Amino acid sequence: TDCILIGAPVDSGKRRAGCLMGPDALRTAGLAEALRDLGHRVEDLGNLTPEPYSPDTGEGPLFKPNETAGWTARLIATAEGAMTRGLPIFLGGDHALSLGSVAGVTSHAARAGRPQFVLWLDAHSDFHTPETTDSGNLHGTPLGYVTGRSGFAGFPPLTTPVQQENICLLGLRSVDDAERAALEGSAIRRHDMREIDERGIARPLGDFLDRVAAENGMLHVSLDVDFLDPSIAPAVGTTVPGGATIREGHLVMEMICDSGLMTSLDLVELNPFLDNRGRTAQLLVDLTASALGRRVFDRPTRAFA
Ligand code: ARG
Ligand code: MN
Ligand code: MN
Ligand code: MN
Repeated sequence: TDCILIGAPVDSGKRRAGCLMGPDALRTAGLAEALRDLGHRVEDLGNLTPEPYSPDTGEGPLFKPNETAGWTARLIATAEGAMTRGLPIFLGGDHALSLGSVAGVTSHAARAGRPQFVLWLDAHSDFHTPETTDSGNLHGTPLGYVTGRSGFAGFPPLTTPVQQENICLLGLRSVDDAERAALEGSAIRRHDMREIDERGIARPLGDFLDRVAAENGMLHVSLDVDFLDPSIAPAVGTTVPGGATIREGHLVMEMICDSGLMTSLDLVELNPFLDNRGRTAQLLVDLTASALGRRVFDRPTRAFA
């Protein structure tokens, strides 16, 4: 695989600063080396900057909407370009970067005549719009934007929305009331931690990967650090107890790898300022390696679904 590392030090999606250091923490933890050791080619585009935007005034309920819109425009263009050359890995940066990464890969998929699927590994559903968010933090809105919900005035117009039924949320344990109501009226697939406790994580994921394969889809994976339990991944501003274990995290990534379906990846919400000697950055590197082929032993594909 040709892996294209894209530093996206987006820090405008919420008030607590620090995600701007995420891309360099992932580099320091050895992401490129880990992928090269697996036999992949790796190109690092360095860190992006947002397209020019008018300064945010601080008025109104939203935090830094103009800066986030500038990032979205830059990331859409960058994602579209990178998709023609390899597998983009977006190094965040907070989850607001996914307004751009997901919109960009989806517009590429549309031109290729293939449906875009999105796997959202997150404690949160991030399905707000600028009108429903109560925090004003736009990192809670990427799935609202890419599905074409209204309220995103000032953001790049969306060329191709992601179909609701092509989105799978895995790991949920913190969903706001307005998001819950919108999700319940939607076709978005959603699996909370209770379901994972009852059925295991492999079944909902295996079912989703089967659907992606059956429709010859492109698969974008968006990994929010807070998908993982805070005891193993403390470096994120929005920890929620009761998250995925290291073993569940690796199983998810290994199943994704075995499926051969992943076409793009986000690593988001890493705040190195909150980390404990880089262990969260290191875990993200190890999970990414699992998604791209690191194994203890080879085994037949999907023996578990
Ligand atoms: N739902 C909450 C909010 O709107 C939390 C969002 C957390 N999102 C994230 N990408 N960590 O503020
Ligand atoms: Mn998120
Ligand atoms: Mn989250
Ligand atoms: Mn909220």
